[in-house]
Amino acid sequence: MHSFGYRANAVLTFAVTILAVICTIASISDNFNSASPTAEVQVSNINWFQKQPNGDDVVGLTLNISADLQSLFTWNTKQVFVFLAAEYETQQNSLNQVSLWDGIIPAKEHAKFVIQTTNKYHFTDQGSNLRGKEFNLTLHWHVMPKTGKMSADKIVMTGYRLPDRYR
Ligand SMILES: *[C@@H]1O[C@H](CO)[C@@H](O)[C@H](O)[C@H]1NC(C)=O
Ligand SMILES: *[C@@H]1O[C@H](CO)[C@@H](O)[C@H](O)[C@H]1NC(C)=O
Repeated sequence: MHSFGYRANAVLTFAVTILAVICTIASISDNFNSASPTAEVQVSNINWFQKQPNGDDVVGLTLNISADLQSLFTWNTKQVFVFLAAEYETQQNSLNQVSLWDGIIPAKEHAKFVIQTTNKYHFTDQGSNLRGKEFNLTLHWHVMPKTGKMSADKIVMTGYRLPDRYR
């Protein structure tokens, strides 16, 4: 006759095996989900644009961000981290990336949004390169799954330009 301990152990092993199988299926099936997020950002105002005493340019913006990231959410999605970055070139660096805003989207119901916000983080250049500067706004996201690997992607929005003068 099997002891209670032996049977409990067999049940536990079975349960762990099933769980492992479910997790594997979860992360595989997630890869078949093709997401098609959309985003649009308008710079609705340049609130200020100055050269700081240390010589670095700094800009204050008002942004109108509308995005639909609902397709990133599957039953295996825990949450999505998003950030909006200004990206531009200078003579020193081919890519300068400045994060302006970020957020954590906890659920699909919150993944479609329109917000008007000033930049949460300073748009500062290491130097005074920003007058008349063309830049892109890129919405980056990291999908944190319940199980499996984290994935990341972005939408690049082109054609933004800063004013020629400080104000
Ligand atoms: C923000 O942009 C969206 C989409 O372009 C537009 O529908 C909305 O009216 C804008 N809101 C503001 C406050 O500018
Ligand atoms: C903006 O993005 C486009 C497309 O990815 C790229 O070709 C261009 O160089 C970028 N512009 C700037 C100013 O970074």
